Amino acid sequence: MPRIIVLDNLSQDGLDLLESAGNIDYEVRTGLKGEELRESLAESDGAICRSGVKITAEVLAGNKRLRAIARAGVGTDNIDKEAATRLGIVVMNTPGGNTISTAEHALALMLAMSRNVAPAYQSLIEGRWDRKKFMGAQLAGKTLGIVGLGRIGQAVATRALAMEMRVLGYDPFLPAARAKELGIETVASARELLPHVDYLTVHTPLNDETRGLIGAKEVQVMKPGARLVNCARGGIYDEDALVEGLKSGRLAGVALDVYPTEPCTASPLFGMPGVVCTPHLGASTEEAQTNVAVEAAELLIDFFTTGAIRQSVNMSPLDPKTLESLRGYLNVAFRLGILLAQMDHSPPVACRLDYTGEVARKDTRLLSAAFAAGLLENAMEEGANIVNAELLLRERGIELVEQRSSDVGDFSSMITAEVVTEQKTSAATGTLFGNNLPRLVQMGECRLESCLDGNLMIVGYRDMPGVIGKMGNIFGNHRVNIAQMSVGRATDKPGGEAVGVLALDSQPPAEALSEILALEEVVRARIVKLPQAGEVPAWMGG
Ligand code: NAD
Ligand code: MLT
Repeated sequence: MPRIIVLDNLSQDGLDLLESAGNIDYEVRTGLKGEELRESLAESDGAICRSGVKITAEVLAGNKRLRAIARAGVGTDNIDKEAATRLGIVVMNTPGGNTISTAEHALALMLAMSRNVAPAYQSLIEGRWDRKKFMGAQLAGKTLGIVGLGRIGQAVATRALAMEMRVLGYDPFLPAARAKELGIETVASARELLPHVDYLTVHTPLNDETRGLIGAKEVQVMKPGARLVNCARGGIYDEDALVEGLKSGRLAGVALDVYPTEPCTASPLFGMPGVVCTPHLGASTEEAQTNVAVEAAELLIDFFTTGAIRQSVNMSPLDPKTLESLRGYLNVAFRLGILLAQMDHSPPVACRLDYTGEVARKDTRLLSAAFAAGLLENAMEEGANIVNAELLLRERGIELVEQRSSDVGDFSSMITAEVVTEQKTSAATGTLFGNNLPRLVQMGECRLESCLDGNLMIVGYRDMPGVIGKMGNIFGNHRVNIAQMSVGRATDKPGGEAVGVLALDSQPPAEALSEILALEEVVRARIVKLPQAGEVPAWMGG
């Protein structure tokens, strides 16, 4: 039964869902850090978190068990996705569930800042009735600038328009036509907004482009008396520049929900006039927390029961139907990878996959990832799967190219894999019999027809009478039973190069292989070990 660790407070509805799944064992352990967090993750198959826990490369190091992390929320910046990907861990998030709550919080901060709600209440409870001091500003008729017009940015725009604001926006990925439909006037850069807006709000991720997006120089070009809001990520505004802007009077207000380092309990901005701050409360509503908790629990339940991958931020989606329809070919590709990895022990420099026939119309990227996972299966300490295999190949400078052709060859579908090392090129072609039987149908130039499981001896020899008998005798002497045998040759004429694939019921001793190699007709021979028939790795639903 998969074990899931819940690392941050999660709404009860999400926990109830995990409970009712029946096939999930879960435990809530919040506030974990360092070694304790590392150990807990190492003993779990899945994890659910919000933004309170930091899943760093250090806490993931050496983890061989964890397969999926679901983030109940949008931002996955508290998870080292590169480290997770390298370890083959799927990272998923629940982006839509807290959109409205966060957009409402941005509006709440704009209103609170404009109407001095927090200091006015503070003054009241301190016994003062001060109506002059807290003169405010109205939103209607003002211009709002929005940087980042994704889910939350758009939700803020529609609400601001309803409040009779004019909305200007910038987002490099929002087509102008869609912006127009929403009633947003777009500009060509964030900077272009600055001289024109009374309010500026940012709704982008924090990345190299958005870090420090508004610094001292940008504050200088803002319309005097502008007010700034950040409900996205701390660091998009340079806080020192905000302090200076407030002191100089260039800025009339600053409202923050997020900080460069969280938790944040001290900041030069706290207490300054015109400032209102909340402790990362954008998504803190009953509704949003129920949404994201339920969604995160569903993501993990689906992943562990059907293999479905949805809303992953580090790999392509994989729904149960696609997985089911691909499983047979994933298995062929995976097994070809395992086979070719054992054909030559020098490091590969490139791999090529040719998909012919019906399989060429399937999601071949996943099949290539499955091949790569097979190729690296026995090489990687951390284990390879379709999440990390391509990255692991890339990191090692191994090029992987694909070619697809829907022309049907000898079989309705074929996958030919070629692995190039500095010494030689090895190629094998596989297909699927029925839904579930991976078969090897060509080695190099030689056509044959063999199973793709268990212990195989792959032998290249000169096609002469008696060779097969000699090999049979050697295995007989070593009490190794030959379960199946297939031979093929590159040309129709005898005497040329031939390949034999012998399926063996047990792993032959090294002496048997030496004796085979000593036969004068034998050019090369290798014993390769494949998973048993029907055996599939966990990521393929095994
Ligand atoms: P989203 O992915 O739907 O939208 C992000 C938008 O930013 C995209 O449209 C993208 O094109 C745009 N963008 C990226 N780089 C840009 C740049 N350099 N300039 C302009 N636009 C750029 O994400 P979302 O769900 O709207 O979330 C937005 C942000 O809000 C995220 O950082 C998320 O972590 C944060 N968030 C905060 C809270 C909170 O509690 N305060 C809650 C939810 C989300
Ligand atoms: C998010 O990215 O979803 C928000 O910051 C909310 C949260 O951290 O829970």
